[in-house]
Amino acid sequence: MERLRVGIIGCGSRGAGRTGAARAHEHWRGYAATGRCRLAALTDIRRDNAEAFAAEHAVDGEPAPAVYEDYRAMLSEQRPDVVSICTWTGLHAEMVEAAVASGAGAIHCEKPLAPTWGEARRMVARASEAGVPLIFTHQRRFEWPFRAARRLLRDGAIGRLVRIEGYCANLFDWGTHWFDMMHFYNDEQPARWVIGQVDLQGAARVFGALVEGQGLSVIGFANGVQGLLQTGRDRPFSEANRLIGTDGVIEVYMDAEGGGRIPLRLRGRGDATWQEVAPQPQDQPGPHGPVAAATADLLHCLEQGGEPELSAARGLRATELIFATYESSRGRGRVDLPLSVDDSPLAAMAADRGLSV
Ligand SMILES: NC(=O)c1ccc[n+]([C@@H]2O[C@H](COP(=O)([O-])OP(=O)(O)OC[C@H]3O[C@@H](n4cnc5c(N)ncnc54)[C@H](O)[C@@H]3O)[C@@H](O)[C@H]2O)c1
Repeated sequence: MERLRVGIIGCGSRGAGRTGAARAHEHWRGYAATGRCRLAALTDIRRDNAEAFAAEHAVDGEPAPAVYEDYRAMLSEQRPDVVSICTWTGLHAEMVEAAVASGAGAIHCEKPLAPTWGEARRMVARASEAGVPLIFTHQRRFEWPFRAARRLLRDGAIGRLVRIEGYCANLFDWGTHWFDMMHFYNDEQPARWVIGQVDLQGAARVFGALVEGQGLSVIGFANGVQGLLQTGRDRPFSEANRLIGTDGVIEVYMDAEGGGRIPLRLRGRGDATWQEVAPQPQDQPGPHGPVAAATADLLHCLEQGGEPELSAARGLRATELIFATYESSRGRGRVDLPLSVDDSPLAAMAADRGLSV
């Protein structure tokens, strides 16, 4: 069978001069694990990053990937079957739209979607109109503590779900994962309204995008479940989720990994203490990890149809909650969805105050 030709934009560096996590390596490991892909082309404005990437992933007997510094030239000359976009957030929208226009069959783009709600909506619309499966890397959906937490919830371990809490550094770069997980735990129920607040004191840039210093978001979902996300300084937990039900609580801790403690615990009806929950085989993402599981799922949908677990539509629903929280802060009131703004209310508030971060 002819292998799919993969083109990667934004290779990253893992050596001196690194600027981030070099997510492209994780993306390629996912394609390689399928055994159905060939690394056809790499693009990076830093040619040395692309060349180091090609050298690290070289396979004996395989042609070396073509290396480009201009992603538009790569897309038009190579026309990859699948495109991965691993650049910083402000470049995602233009690159997704260009990949769609080049005829790519499927696209895997890193999260968060884009720095404004308008850009996020438009790029997802372009892919959807062209019928191109597009995913964003909300890979927690394939990680075992989250899957096990949802399994326990569905098995009734805490009764009826009432509230989903998230704690993390910011609403945007990390919060995109937790807003996505709220939909995951809550069986993809749509959100109806958001009320929130953001504090620009301590605002920073993460992968080039502005984030608040402290934030709070309360979300009302269609089934009556509520979400609560608390971010930034002075939050009571670092990166964690709590699922509160009528009969108990489930907690998932990201920061517990490596600390020796199992990152998932449950206190159900009548439990005097917390029970640590170990993963079951069905919770695991498979031998190559969550990004590889997401990649295999994307390629399955490319060939067989269906909605990928990390679909753009789901990514957009999480993103709407980010920008709706900012808009609630700007407008000093509850925001009923769908959100009608086009900009980033956070960036607009920062500009109004003459804040340069
Ligand atoms: N899913 C996750 O858990 C997770 C974790 C970390 C980062 N991320 C996200 O991944 C994205 C990429 O982050 P990273 O840490 O891999 O970044 P990185 O800095 O390691 O790599 C980005 C690469 O893009 C290149 N680049 C910049 N402009 C370019 C252009 N115009 N054309 C081609 N290449 C260009 C840079 O030279 C660099 O090599 C960010 O949006 C970030 O938020 C996601």
